[in-house]
Amino acid sequence: MIIAIDGPAASGKSTTAKIVAEKLGFTYLDTGAMYRCVTLAMINAGIHVSNTKQINDLLENISIDLLDKNGKLQIMMNNLDVSDDIRSGKVTENVSAVSALKNVREAMVKMQRNIASKTNCVMEGRDIGTVVFPNAEYKFYLSADSVVRAERRQRDLLALGDEKSIQELIEDINRRDEYDSSREISPLKKAEDAIDINTTDLTIDGQVSKIIEIVNKQKTK
Ligand code: CDP
Repeated sequence: MIIAIDGPAASGKSTTAKIVAEKLGFTYLDTGAMYRCVTLAMINAGIHVSNTKQINDLLENISIDLLDKNGKLQIMMNNLDVSDDIRSGKVTENVSAVSALKNVREAMVKMQRNIASKTNCVMEGRDIGTVVFPNAEYKFYLSADSVVRAERRQRDLLALGDEKSIQELIEDINRRDEYDSSREISPLKKAEDAIDINTTDLTIDGQVSKIIEIVNKQKTK
């Protein structure tokens, strides 16, 4: 079974998806982290987005593992823990351009479908309900006011020791949403049959309960 959770930057997808997965005993898959890994690998190797051949070579050799380490998601790239590095400003700045590339998307979607073929999954991203799993049993689309999203992101980054102003974060979030929504391949958009959840005034518990309630209600039908 697949529960797809899509939505714009910092809308609460990761926190929500992780807890929903824990409560249901499903695997949690953060697809944004996968695109962030590819971006980090390209930055480390000095590969430009226009160099298709080098990107293809990189995609052929990259290994990405999302591990559950005592309830915390650990992101491994080529057997190195990159959980914090993939959240750096440099990766965030470049990830939208990298994830708009056809070869990158094909490779990541293949990995995502492969993981989901083995286990029940809560998968979060931008195109899960529209492209990766258009037949997912449950689809949710999380949205929130951009100031609230910037405030949430500010707290996340502060925990990593990275201090950013709200204005800077609003600009980053808007820029990424614009880029992600207008790209040609798999743009960010709500699947027609996805349930919209606006998290602006919801607590984490509130948004998690909403999803669990809907899943449980439909399961008993
Ligand atoms: O957590 P945050 O909202 O900052 O973003 P993320 O989920 O870590 O995703 C980072 C970037 O990866 C997004 O801005 C998209 O450009 C890209 N992405 C994508 O294209 N497709 C997905 N399924 C997930 C992420």
